[in-house]
Amino acid sequence: MIKRPIHLSHDFLAEVLDKEAIAVDATMGNGNDTAFLAKLSKKVYAFDVQEQALQKTAERLAQLGLNNAELILAGHETVDQHVPEAIRAAIFNLGYLPSVDKSIITKPDTTLSAISKILERLEVGGRLAIMIYYGHEGGSMEKDAVLEYIKTLDQTVFTAMLYQPLNQINTPPFLVMVEKLAKIVD
Ligand SMILES: C[S@@+](CC[C@H](N)C(=O)[O-])C[C@H]1O[C@@H](n2cnc3c(N)ncnc32)[C@H](O)[C@@H]1O
Repeated sequence: MIKRPIHLSHDFLAEVLDKEAIAVDATMGNGNDTAFLAKLSKKVYAFDVQEQALQKTAERLAQLGLNNAELILAGHETVDQHVPEAIRAAIFNLGYLPSVDKSIITKPDTTLSAISKILERLEVGGRLAIMIYYGHEGGSMEKDAVLEYIKTLDQTVFTAMLYQPLNQINTPPFLVMVEKLAKIVD
């Protein structure tokens, strides 16, 4: 069966992960992506601004016997203050966490700040996956801001791709994939 964007996001990152790799889950939520990354990497730094996300993710990791994730109660825009190592793979799931507080959403300014810091810190060959959910209020603005930003990336430094359902009703989530080809030269 054809892959859903969320499944492709994991496959895309899995290809570059190994037990030496540092990974970032920029939007921890229920911890699905944190658990996925923790299985395949040396260490995961996971961010969320909701205490409940950290609790749910900690429970999930404990159930799976995974202890290589650092759960950080802070916005992903502070990634530069928390992650000292170069990053092999990172993921964002933009929007809100359905099971909890729908008013806590990712926002264009902080999302772009985090994306640019992560791209700067990606290893050459490292990858970033951004799942864009945009059906909620404010989601469309964030979607446009992210797409505009990604389109400006220097093509000699990054390759960027889009994977999007074309014939589904409503606003199905889609995937932006970025790979770093070379160091950023100022
Ligand atoms: C769509 S959910 C993530 C789902 C998650 N990947 C999972 O597997 O369940 C988006 C999450 O981003 C979080 N969030 C909102 N603003 C944030 C920020 N500035 N930094 C980090 N997380 C943020 C929300 O609290 C919410 O849990």
